[in-house]
Amino acid sequence: MNLLKSYSQCLAKLQNEGLYRECAKHLTSEYKINLDFSTTDYMSLGQNPTLKTKVISALQKFGTGACGSRLLAHTTGIVDVLENAISDAKNTQAAMVFGSAFALNTTVIAALLNNEVLGETPIVFADKFIHASMIAGVQLSKAKMLRYKHLDLEHLETLLKRYKNYKNPKFILSETLFSVDGDFVDFAGITHLASKYGAFLYLDEAHEIGLYGDKGYGMSVNYSNKIDLVMGSFSKGLASFGGYLATSSLIKNYLVNKCSSFIYSNALPSYVVAASYHSWRLIPALDKQRKKIKSLALTLREHLKAKGFDIKNSNSHIVPIVLKNPEKTIQLRDLLRLDGIAVSAFRPPSVPTNSSRLRIAINAKHTKENILFLIDRLCHHLNV
Ligand SMILES: Cc1ncc(COP(=O)(O)O)c(C=O)c1O
Repeated sequence: MNLLKSYSQCLAKLQNEGLYRECAKHLTSEYKINLDFSTTDYMSLGQNPTLKTKVISALQKFGTGACGSRLLAHTTGIVDVLENAISDAKNTQAAMVFGSAFALNTTVIAALLNNEVLGETPIVFADKFIHASMIAGVQLSKAKMLRYKHLDLEHLETLLKRYKNYKNPKFILSETLFSVDGDFVDFAGITHLASKYGAFLYLDEAHEIGLYGDKGYGMSVNYSNKIDLVMGSFSKGLASFGGYLATSSLIKNYLVNKCSSFIYSNALPSYVVAASYHSWRLIPALDKQRKKIKSLALTLREHLKAKGFDIKNSNSHIVPIVLKNPEKTIQLRDLLRLDGIAVSAFRPPSVPTNSSRLRIAINAKHTKENILFLIDRLCHHLNV
């Protein structure tokens, strides 16, 4: 069949270019990983005993699946408690919980960009490095998308100025902490531009939640009246699963009526919602862990910079090591695996051409010795 030949040629091409992807090995596979810098369980809540007990009791009480969508089946109510907790913490009128943060981004953005509802084709101004799930949302719509240079608000303003007199609704899309670069958006700057040019500001804080901002609830909390919608994921610092957004009641009501993955997909099982809720409640108490993560991340960044590694402009717990070449990146990841160290490797199209990299993610369980061991092994393998 020609179709199968095409898929197989596609895979052969990826292999040739060093861009072939495979699922990560199990931590307990032949590599015997004992130091994990690949997990996004940043706050190390995945094995938290209190959380596990709460989840088990929710599982026993509510059972395994939700078996119905939020609009059709009567839920256990725990999801409403979670949504209230999120809107309280985020200082917004409303919040919503979704089955997946990826699906949230894609379908919420597509719903917001509905040009039949808006009466004009929307124009989207998107940071060059936003996550694939946000781009997919724009692509599902008929919106015009303009990309501004990563975190370059002067460039964003140049583009906004160019379209200033157009009647088309304008949207700005950015992450707050970029997932493979580890750098932050300038909140004051981007909120200022959004209000100056009357654009809808949509922010993704998937990698920030739990670690930054007042009580760990994200830096957007200080700008809540200037951000139209902020979304995040439960699957990273909160060690659960699913996505959330915080917004106005009007936008929530609109999405309940027009957002496909909220309407046409099953609700999350209650035990998953329980994990998210109890994790959300635990977050403010984790100041000590946040302080430790930030201090270890600083140590890592300073050592790597001193050794001449290219860590881009990371100033967070996410630290890229740019090696450029995809094969070299995979080789180094595999050599580290043999040392018992897990790191993530990113290659195009996840990152721009010639910027393949390892991503080191610091979490609350790491120690200074772990960081020094990682640096030692990196230097050894790269002859630094
Ligand atoms: C910035 C960003 N947004 C959204 C998502 C999707 O999150 P989830 O994996 O919880 O669906 C990811 C996942 O990697 C991400 O990095």
